[in-house]
This record gives sequence, structure tokens and C-alpha cells, in this order.
Amino acid sequence: MKAIIIYYSRSGNTEKIALQAQKDMKCEIIKIVPEEAYGNYISSCLRVTKEKKAAAAPAFTNPIPDLTDYNMILLGYPIWAQDLPRFVSDFISQCDLTNKIVVPFAAYGMSGINCTMNHLQKLCVNAEIRYPFDSGVFKKGNYDIWIKQVLKECSET
Ligand SMILES: Cc1cc2nc3c(=O)[nH]c(=O)nc-3n(C[C@H](O)[C@H](O)[C@H](O)COP(=O)(O)O)c2cc1C
Repeated sequence: MKAIIIYYSRSGNTEKIALQAQKDMKCEIIKIVPEEAYGNYISSCLRVTKEKKAAAAPAFTNPIPDLTDYNMILLGYPIWAQDLPRFVSDFISQCDLTNKIVVPFAAYGMSGINCTMNHLQKLCVNAEIRYPFDSGVFKKGNYDIWIKQVLKECSET
């Protein structure tokens, strides 16, 4: 099975997981880049609140990748306002995930990845979501156990 990592990270926590996973899985990696960077924590929170109210769709700079050759997509994002960042969900909604396995991972403060699962399910209707992983400020995820499961799945099929 061939895997690719697609992620966004503003302050480096999701990126740390993404880069370690890339090392362990020896796979390709794409970082989603918003057209206008979100800046520091406070300005990001203010902007995201404004964007939510206006139902704005901030743009990203990446082209939509051709995922034909990949069976597994590891999708990483920070939890923002109990959700995926809007430009991340817009990016994913434009990818063809038909028959893919999507492995979501997230960095968060308090909320955990579960608060994004309903939305993620809707973005991944033709895909299967497996092995969600998260790591928070007070509750670190067990990366080693997670990546072992993902590597096993990858090598078995
Ligand atoms: C705009 C914004 C909204 C956030 N909303 C949440 C939230 O709803 N729940 C939560 O647990 N953490 C929230 N956080 C905290 C981030 O998820 C957390 O700092 C995460 O580790 C950031 O990952 P990153 O370093 O990959 O950007 C928010 C952070 C920002 C900047």
C-alpha cells in the first residue's frame, strides 16, 4: 500500500507528528499553505472567528494533488474552533478520496480529534477513516503505538 501525508500546521505541533510519520513511513508529504498566513495565536483566533461568522473560505496556495497512486492518506491538522481549519477541509473536499484509507491526526489544546470526526466523515464519504490519532497539551497521544498500527496496515495490504 502506498501512503502520502497531507497536513497543515501553524505553530509546529502537527508538523512534528507529520515529519516523524514521514520519516517512519518513508512516504511523500504535502503541506497545505494558506494564501495568507495566520500569524500569531491571538490574530489567528480573531481571524478564524471572523471567517466563521462570515462563512468565508480562505484560499490555499497548493494545487490539488493527483492521488491515484496512493491508497492511504494521512491527514494532519490542528483543531481550530472544534473543527478542521476551513481551508484544510476545502482542500480535502477537492481531493478524490474514493476507496482510500484516510488516517487523520491532529494537535489540539483541550478538544481532541473526536470533535472533528462528523465533519471529516462528510468530507470522506467514499473513503474509510481509520486510526485517528491526536495529541493535546495535557494529554499526549502515544505516537509509537499509533504509527505501528499504521505501518502494519500499510505493509499488509
Ligand atoms: C485559531 C485557533 C483555534 C483553536 N481552537 C482550538 C479548539 O477549538 N480546541 C482545541 O483544543 N485547541 C484549539 N486551538 C489550539 C490548537 O489546536 C493547538 O495549539 C495545536 O497544538 C496547534 O497545532 P499546530 O502547532 O500544528 O498549529 C486553537 C488554536 C488556534 C490558533
